[in-house]
Amino acid sequence: MKQLKGIILAGGLGSRLYPLTLGISKQLLPVYDKPMIYYPLSVFMNSGIKNILIITTNEDSHRYIKLLGNGKKLGIKISYAIQDFPNGIAESFLIGKDFIGNDDVCLILGDNIFYGKELYAQIEKAKENLNQGFSTIFGIKTDKPENFGVINFNDSGEIISIIEKPEKPSSNIIVSGLYFYTNDVIKLAKALKPSLRGEKEITDINNFYLNKRKLKLKLLNDSTSWIDTGTYSSLIKASKFFEDYERKTKKKASCIEEIAYRMGYINKDQLVAIGNSMKSSDYGKYILDLIR
Ligand code: DAU
Repeated sequence: MKQLKGIILAGGLGSRLYPLTLGISKQLLPVYDKPMIYYPLSVFMNSGIKNILIITTNEDSHRYIKLLGNGKKLGIKISYAIQDFPNGIAESFLIGKDFIGNDDVCLILGDNIFYGKELYAQIEKAKENLNQGFSTIFGIKTDKPENFGVINFNDSGEIISIIEKPEKPSSNIIVSGLYFYTNDVIKLAKALKPSLRGEKEITDINNFYLNKRKLKLKLLNDSTSWIDTGTYSSLIKASKFFEDYERKTKKKASCIEEIAYRMGYINKDQLVAIGNSMKSSDYGKYILDLIR
């Protein structure tokens, strides 16, 4: 039976955040109490995607391995691959070709933070779409559409095209960094010519599916937070968002160990062992408190 595989793309130079990212990969930077990559990883874990490939730079791969290992502690499977140079988001499917095999694939960008329960109902629909041969992208409203892939609609609200970082955006709905693709994405990525900036563009993949009438759009409403991590200020805002969330709810968001336990990937003893290994931090104490 077909399985849905997950790829987290966590390479790139992070040059828009220099010097923060001169010494470390962007997706390992802290967002409140945890490394950024925990957030996209938690989206996969909450969606039942347990076979995951993390694509990183050669320089940083050992840090990700130190952090997450082979995923066994979380009851999931994590493997790693290297992207030598940021040749484009769509290169993920070439690097991950053997990992994907004959399955469908979900790609999440390692710097995209989503939060909210509604997202998971939408993800279930994206999975159903895959079973019917359709790929799915997730649109979200933003104030600065010009920095993203912008969705161009006609008067009846249908998508006409997606334009990468247009000077004059025709809408404020952009394509977020979570994509569900049918297996033929590997073939498409192989055939894709690099853009003028020299990258295999994910937007070209999306436009291809759109033109073949094989693309569905799911719009994320206000109940899902999508948090930008592209600037110094938005990084701080993201940390504040999760700090406030914890203060208000007394819960941690995107705690991968808690998710692993609640999803039944690990048992109580395994959770306690993880909690004990971090018990001098509030994060470890939170994990131990979960089973008290
Ligand atoms: O965040 C959503 C946006 O992501 C979409 O709206 C755009 O259509 C899409 O092109 C992308 O735009 P960005 O300008 O944010 O892409 P960026 O080059 O910053 O790459 C996004 C993440 O992927 C970043 O964490 C670095 C990583 N990356 C990027 C490229 C191009 C890689 O690991 N390898 C790459 O080759």
